[in-house]
Amino acid sequence: MPSKTVNLVKKLVAEIKEKVGENRAIVALSGGIDSSVSTVLASKALGKNLTAVFVDQGLMRENESKEIIKTFKKFNLNFLALNEKKKFLKKLKGVKDPEKKRKIIGREFIRVFEKVAKKVKANYLIQGTIYPDIIESGYSRKSEKIKTHHNVGGLPTKIKFKAIIEPLKDFYKDEVREIAKKIGLPEEIIFRQPFPGPALAVRIIGEVTEKKLKILRKADKILREEIEKEKLSEHLWQYFPVLLDTKTTGIKGDKRAYGQIIAIRIVESRNAMTAHFAKIPYQILEKISTRITNEIPEIVRVVYDTTHKPPSTIEWE
Ligand code: XMP
Repeated sequence: MPSKTVNLVKKLVAEIKEKVGENRAIVALSGGIDSSVSTVLASKALGKNLTAVFVDQGLMRENESKEIIKTFKKFNLNFLALNEKKKFLKKLKGVKDPEKKRKIIGREFIRVFEKVAKKVKANYLIQGTIYPDIIESGYSRKSEKIKTHHNVGGLPTKIKFKAIIEPLKDFYKDEVREIAKKIGLPEEIIFRQPFPGPALAVRIIGEVTEKKLKILRKADKILREEIEKEKLSEHLWQYFPVLLDTKTTGIKGDKRAYGQIIAIRIVESRNAMTAHFAKIPYQILEKISTRITNEIPEIVRVVYDTTHKPPSTIEWE
């Protein structure tokens, strides 16, 4: 491992220690690589003065919350897992606009963290924000806002923390992966696909409902199974389905079916600032599409997204 990374870890830990001092902090842990690395760095810096908080906002993929909780219970951490599904879904009811959805989710996360902070007497919040999150939220002088990454621009203006600390805010994802390897994070975290903070809410076009979440989770499970079975995942940045809000005519069991559409997004990228759609073999796409329409009654059409970033972003919202 390059000694550059060793020194970097020491430097990042020292910076957190210096900022928080003898105070207490909580870290927002989503189970993704960025927040997991931030958690380990913060834990090295603060020990028992740190509480890691995982919030199940009801927008996770199938079994994801259970797996994250299982992984982090094994760590030597003050770890809290909260089920806030009802609260988030209630706040999202009737909301169709993507930026509004992002802002609501960002605000609700902060409100939950503030409550926990009060309980554990913490006054600092640590987050896994990385450089592209800041750029795309329009917080650099040179950048236009593209979308509000929920852990940056999605935060409410008034928050009850002394400060928010973002140890990874100057790094790209590939650099974060190097740090993750250095600090010994398990492979299941290092090689997990990036997953956005607003989660499945930005992969459901329009209003988020329990019913749509159920459909999307089924499609996501099928897509992941097929891609992973073919051992394609290590070459891909992300592979996920999006549930559209347009209806379309199809045929199911010899009858007309007026149903929904799933779009498949599979991209290759180095750091998410640009991306190419992946040229997946047609046979694999055919398998995915057939399974989705066979196993999910509501879906009558599957389309493949063949746009690069730019002009598209990776997520649809
Ligand atoms: P876009 O869609 O902006 O996504 O091309 C670039 C990368 O960032 C992820 N993403 C997010 N990550 N909070 C996050 O932590 C967010 O609000 C967010 N929005 C998008 C996305 O999955 C992709 O890897």
